[in-house]
Amino acid sequence: MADVFTVLANDHQEVKGTLAELEKGPTSATGATEEQLALRKKMTEQLIIEESKHEALEEMYLWPAVREHLESGNPLADEATGQEQAAKQVLNDLDKLGADDADFEKLLGTLSRTPGSTSNSRSRRYGRCCGPR
Ligand SMILES: [Fe+2]
Repeated sequence: MADVFTVLANDHQEVKGTLAELEKGPTSATGATEEQLALRKKMTEQLIIEESKHEALEEMYLWPAVREHLESGNPLADEATGQEQAAKQVLNDLDKLGADDADFEKLLGTLSRTPGSTSNSRSRRYGRCCGPR
């Protein structure tokens, strides 16, 4: 059975993969069909579910361990959990929109750039707290 840190690292790769797929499009603005838009919405819903589970695991296991075992654990965990709250808000907002909504792609793009999301900034954060993956 995989340890929680392996599960978290695997989650990172899965979410990055899903975001990369979503970034390829097509989008409503680039001529996606109804079927393609439905798939984008479904992929986004799955992303939201996976992210929610992932964040719950981090809150339960990762951040308490960071706080307990790292000298600078408290400010690091505080920063990370603050970023996660921002990402959660984006996910909540995104969950309410259809893939044909004008704000859907904008929010999806924001998610990629939101500290605490699965973006490069998040990857850097993971590098600090979860080790290189
Ligand atoms: Fe994570």
